Amino acid sequence: MSAQPMETKVVCGMTLRKDPAREACFKVVETDAEMAAWADFSRDSMRERLHRHMNNETTSLEIAAQCIADFPEAPWELRMQLARQVWDESRHVEALHRRLIEIGGHKGEFPVANFEWTVTCLLDTLVGRLTLQNRTFEAGTMDLMATLPGKWREAGDAATADLLDAIAADEVQHVRFGNQWIRRLTAEDKRLLFKVAHAVRFLAEVNNAFAKASGGLNAVGQTMEQVGKVAPINVADRLEADFSEAEVAEILRQAGFPALVQERLPAAP
Ligand SMILES: [Fe+2]
Ligand SMILES: [Fe+2]
Repeated sequence: MSAQPMETKVVCGMTLRKDPAREACFKVVETDAEMAAWADFSRDSMRERLHRHMNNETTSLEIAAQCIADFPEAPWELRMQLARQVWDESRHVEALHRRLIEIGGHKGEFPVANFEWTVTCLLDTLVGRLTLQNRTFEAGTMDLMATLPGKWREAGDAATADLLDAIAADEVQHVRFGNQWIRRLTAEDKRLLFKVAHAVRFLAEVNNAFAKASGGLNAVGQTMEQVGKVAPINVADRLEADFSEAEVAEILRQAGFPALVQERLPAAP
């Protein structure tokens, strides 16, 4: 069971887990509005994108590692999957840091936010954390990765594009084992379905609270709409990561693509 009492903080009226430790060079902020994100691929934007991605990979590493520490009673095979994820994410952090330096950036050059950690690690069940981190946040990254390397290539940076392709291949496995274990754990104990539902609802509440509080410009004068575009659903990789066709259809439907559901996938029951 997770270590208690958990250290918490309140952001936009929501109680969240306190940020993980960061080196003194990093300025840690709470919301997207405080980030220095640009929608284009200018030199500044390229460094900021790598810097932000590097910190996001760090939080993925920390979430998986914290799960191993907080849930010693979890099945050994699941703990091994989390340990492998920690190893993958640590390689991602190192590779992104190397590339950041190659293009002239450095640690601490831009603000960082640890949103995924602060939401996921507030939950006190492993199935809840897998639901948010692996099945929701990392699945979202997978969608983004379907188009992001191409954008870097168009911007003339094939080395970063190749690196993102390599990272994306690992992410599919993190989503896959998350999905497989959520299915297995909830099949063994139906009460855990409430924990899954609670996790999804909690994230929706946090997102709503953050959306209400933002709305203006971010730290470099970009609108949230400019920098916060939602990636199209990566159907091929989601199926590869063990989302069922019905689940992918439901995600497409919720994302406002009902026509795509009819064309590509059978309707959810
Ligand atoms: Fe990663
Ligand atoms: Fe990952």
